[in-house]
Amino acid sequence: MSALFDAYGRYYQLLYQDKDDAAEVAYVSALLQSLGAGSQLLEFGSGTGRHARLLAQRGYQVLGVERSAQMLAQAQTLPSPGFDCVQGDILEIDLGRRFDAVLALFHVVSYQTTNAAVRAVFARAAAHLDAGGFFVFDVWYSPAVHAQRAEVRVKRLADAHTAITRIAEPRHYPTENRVDVRYTILAQDLATGAVQEVNETHPMRHFSGPELDFVAEQAGFERVLAQEFGTGRAPGEDTWGVCFAYRKR
Ligand SMILES: C[S@@+](CC[C@H](N)C(=O)[O-])C[C@H]1O[C@@H](n2cnc3c(N)ncnc32)[C@H](O)[C@@H]1O
Repeated sequence: MSALFDAYGRYYQLLYQDKDDAAEVAYVSALLQSLGAGSQLLEFGSGTGRHARLLAQRGYQVLGVERSAQMLAQAQTLPSPGFDCVQGDILEIDLGRRFDAVLALFHVVSYQTTNAAVRAVFARAAAHLDAGGFFVFDVWYSPAVHAQRAEVRVKRLADAHTAITRIAEPRHYPTENRVDVRYTILAQDLATGAVQEVNETHPMRHFSGPELDFVAEQAGFERVLAQEFGTGRAPGEDTWGVCFAYRKR
């Protein structure tokens, strides 16, 4: 069986070219500053490095850990002073050093769907922080998922070489705090007209604040912040992506 993001990752940059990376990084950077975090960052699930590269340009030193070889290869295509990345599993990684903050951006923690995986990601974050260090991440937020439910979505994007249609079909498991999103990608090579189809199912866990606090406290963290990712608004039933920050005791 191929690993998650091995196929999807081929089209990742094109699929998310509509995301405002600069605005997201400005938000994360302001958040880190408001917490008083230092400049040594560990990024869990760093993907193609779209945040890390821009954080490095702001003076942060970022080390990324990414499981998908496909995503890692894209992260390593551009030389980026201040950003390095290694292949690894954030549920097991032991880099033998500490950082000022651990980041996990764009739902990386929601990809950890079992209780054992959620416990492990907090334990690995704690292991790489000194007391006073921060674990900052955004997740799918249970109150919003229950209130709104994910719907079938179709996204179309193109660059000079490829036109893509992505269909996202969610399957809800409300009693398990999980939505399995089946992605179908139809990618047309604009030179030849040939169409390639890619299918990947991404199981996503959504979280409530008390649920995260429970696991975080067991790993030695205390919550310092919960707000809508990108805006800072108070989270509620209309807030799908919520950013949490925890301080290591
Ligand atoms: C939605 S992508 C986000 C990537 C990047 N942070 C961004 O904002 O574009 C989720 C990423 O988390 C990575 N990931 C998920 N579980 C992981 C694990 N256990 N260890 C390492 N990487 C993981 C995936 O391979 C994928 O690249």
